Amino acid sequence: MNQIDLQGRTAIVTGGAQGIGRAVAERFAASGAHVAIWDLDGELAAKTAAEIGGTATGLGIDVTDAQAVKAAADALEAGQGSVDILVTSAGIAGANLKTWDYPLEEWARVMKLNVDGTLHCCIALTKSLGKELATQDIAVNCITPAAARTRIFDQMTEEHIGYMLAKIPRGRFLLPEEVASMVAFLASAENSFTTGGVFDLSGGRATY
Ligand SMILES: NC(=O)c1ccc[n+]([C@@H]2O[C@H](COP(=O)([O-])OP(=O)(O)OC[C@H]3O[C@@H](n4cnc5c(N)ncnc54)[C@H](O)[C@@H]3O)[C@@H](O)[C@H]2O)c1
Repeated sequence: MNQIDLQGRTAIVTGGAQGIGRAVAERFAASGAHVAIWDLDGELAAKTAAEIGGTATGLGIDVTDAQAVKAAADALEAGQGSVDILVTSAGIAGANLKTWDYPLEEWARVMKLNVDGTLHCCIALTKSLGKELATQDIAVNCITPAAARTRIFDQMTEEHIGYMLAKIPRGRFLLPEEVASMVAFLASAENSFTTGGVFDLSGGRATY
């Protein structure tokens, strides 16, 4: 593993109890960061933080609850002095259906978590926040991962999983640790210039 320097940084990883978020939290901790895992599953978040060790903490937070997010952010900032890095990995796949068959309630459920939940943790999304903070030495970037075999696959049909694999030119699923490598670089001082960017992790530009 290459050394990335996140010494003394405080990082929030939403959805960090497992999957991609956990891999990022582990990599951040190995790079010297204080990691705060916020996950709907508070028990698993605490267990993961204990397994990571050091100063990592795990908290049960529903990122769709804006007030809970603000209270947790205020408490973390008061305790740590500042919050330097935010990775919003909390998310769900939603039902695997054609657009015209998609139930509106399911659409609302996915939007509430994947979009509103992200907004609650920031004040805007990557492009706008990247521009708004560009002069303040704060980088805001997003990543676009191909499919990675985590618990999120439980929400998908075998047919859909096979379809996704067939569309990845690398011929295999992405590993959470490979996401963590890119995110650790983006969150470090090594990435001193790029902001408002979208980073490809598609394994050869998947076409789905
Ligand atoms: N795994 C993939 O193939 C893949 C590919 C591209 C993008 N993504 C995205 O990456 C992110 C992480 O995916 P993953 O594979 O690690 O998923 P995962 O299901 O393994 O982990 C997601 C975590 O988010 C938490 N979570 C769910 N609802 C929450 C809420 N309301 N508040 C706080 N936490 C909540 C879950 O408890 C879980 O621990 C998701 O946003 C997903 O859409 C995943």
